[in-house]
Amino acid sequence: MAMAAMVRRSLGHRFPVRSFAAVAQPQTFAIYRYDPDKQAKPFLQDYTIDLKACGPMILDALVKIKDEVDATLTFRRSCREGICGSCAMNINGKNGLACLLYIEPSKQAIEIQPLPHTYVVKDLVPDLTNFYNQYKSIEPWLKRKDTKAKGEKEYFQSREDRAKLDGMYECILCACCMTSCPSYWWNPEYYLGPAVLMQAYRWIADSRDQFTEERLAWVNDTMKLYRCHGIMNCTNCCPKGLDPAKAIVHLKEQVAETYKDGWKSMMTGEIVKNKGRESGMMYM
Ligand code: SF4
Ligand code: SF4
Ligand code: FES
Repeated sequence: MAMAAMVRRSLGHRFPVRSFAAVAQPQTFAIYRYDPDKQAKPFLQDYTIDLKACGPMILDALVKIKDEVDATLTFRRSCREGICGSCAMNINGKNGLACLLYIEPSKQAIEIQPLPHTYVVKDLVPDLTNFYNQYKSIEPWLKRKDTKAKGEKEYFQSREDRAKLDGMYECILCACCMTSCPSYWWNPEYYLGPAVLMQAYRWIADSRDQFTEERLAWVNDTMKLYRCHGIMNCTNCCPKGLDPAKAIVHLKEQVAETYKDGWKSMMTGEIVKNKGRESGMMYM
């Protein structure tokens, strides 16, 4: 990935390999280090561990390094089984989940960086505030105009309508796709990005939701939606095998098929009714 290469060059010197007692199957990891308290430039630090004494996944190696070598190494993880999305990072130039990716033994160091084009809080921890605010902006919950009849417990949905959500509801919001998208790299403050747009479409496609048109009007914006140019990096890196690029194509099709002149004023009305709503745009 171009950005990973760019960061590598800009990192300058590498810190020396830490030495340990003889190991059966040594593997070096070159890990991005940045400490906001030290006012120093980020750098890659090499750590060599014994793969014979380590679990098989990249996350196992990070945990081993933190436990046994350097407790200051900082990264996020929680479930260690591809559910929480918190261990998303860039491994050898590709975004993925450290807990789902096997260590592939190599003579070269395995390079681990934070998700590309993010502000870094510390080491491998990216600041995802913008992403979460954009997610909030699409109001990712069921919205109804009628009220439930007394005693009614569920909004029923046919099997066919339920199936329309497959491939979208499984998103774990790991941000691998967002931070691999060149359009998102250039315009993160305006473009909603693949995961957020797929979730916007997930609610548009939901037969139980009654704000379909308002949702379409909300995303129908040159910057929010039309920065997607079908580059497909998002779909190529999704660790859950989802296809946000396809969801964006469907979203654009539905906007084109249903567009009405009154959408702009409808959107203005929505903003007036809900002043606390996130704009999805960093500077608005
Ligand atoms: S298909 Fe669209 S969202 Fe996906 S990487 Fe390309 S520009 Fe970004
Ligand atoms: S679409 Fe895939 S890569 Fe993107 S946030 Fe969801 S799970 Fe992660
Ligand atoms: S630790 Fe939860 S997805 Fe990796």
